[in-house]
Amino acid sequence: MDRTEEIEYFRPHQVNRALVSTPRAGGKSFIVARALRRLGQDVTLYGFLGGPTGQYLRAECAKLGIRDRHTTIEGETRINTVLVDRHAGLATVINEPGPEISKTEAESLRRALDEHIEAGDILVLSGSLPRGIPLDTYAGLITSARQRGARAIVDAEGEVLVSAVSVGPWAVKCNLQEFRAIAPDAPEEVTTEAARQQLFDCMRVIVAAGVQLVIVTLGANGLLAVSRTEALEVSAPSVVAKNPTGSGDTFLAAFVAAYSNASSLEYALKFGAAAASANAAVLVPDIGPSPQLDTLVAGTTVIRHEPDFADSGVAGTDR
Ligand SMILES: Nc1ncnc2c1ncn2[C@@H]1O[C@H](COP(=O)(O)OP(=O)(O)OP(=O)(O)O)[C@@H](O)[C@H]1O
Ligand SMILES: [Mg+2]
Repeated sequence: MDRTEEIEYFRPHQVNRALVSTPRAGGKSFIVARALRRLGQDVTLYGFLGGPTGQYLRAECAKLGIRDRHTTIEGETRINTVLVDRHAGLATVINEPGPEISKTEAESLRRALDEHIEAGDILVLSGSLPRGIPLDTYAGLITSARQRGARAIVDAEGEVLVSAVSVGPWAVKCNLQEFRAIAPDAPEEVTTEAARQQLFDCMRVIVAAGVQLVIVTLGANGLLAVSRTEALEVSAPSVVAKNPTGSGDTFLAAFVAAYSNASSLEYALKFGAAAASANAAVLVPDIGPSPQLDTLVAGTTVIRHEPDFADSGVAGTDR
């Protein structure tokens, strides 16, 4: 849960009085699930919930129409506090360490997912892993989803991302900094045409290694996407950014919603970028109302690049 405390002037090392205190179901999975529901998708959440905060989040699932298949844990679900200094317009974030998950609890989540996931489902694996969970957990879930005819898309970082990519998920979405964990040769920033080409090349290598779709988001600069047959550069529709946190999660939800409605890859990416921009323009992570999304989609441009797999060995391969 995220709890936002709005303070007129934040003074460190002193007693501060909050003007407004707002709790909200937070974390990557909730941002993704809430946006998917707003877009009319049938959503089931898996994860770990415990204690009174866990109860609060279960009630939120019911309110939002999200199917709640969380595993109940001994530990307590964490609260992350955001201290907003109204005068400075800046926030200080305090993230609790979060509960430790036992082996039995981890196995219980795995069983719930194995039991319910069906052919045609899209499994979104989003965020870091709680303490006590092995780093290769996403890899196991991806393999198991594939065996059941479901497709997995991963948004993670570091070793968790490396391990997930090694088993060939359907898709990967990460930001540039996270992408460098699986592609150390990727540029640190994309400000020149040469850097963009270098990034495209690194993404092609990941596709060649068995991931069907690689999406790297670049904040206000939009995103690049590479599949076996397409290489696309998508601009982010320009907005006055208030808080881009959660834009990647909102992109992921909107992309998955459009893609599962049989939109083309190009349209799904544009729709994702539009929703992500709408999220960046508001203070609390949220997808915009649909008329605003239509305007933002119209403000998104796509440049098609040559797929150009001649050197990467991808051409002609099929998983
Ligand atoms: N300032 C901005 N203005 C317009 N669009 C933005 C802005 N920041 C982000 N976006 C949109 O959001 C998408 C994802 O942003 P970003 O690359 O920052 O994701 P992220 O780092 O994964 O974010 P998070 O993990 O906090 O959700 C971008 O591809 C872009 O379409
Ligand atoms: Mg992200």
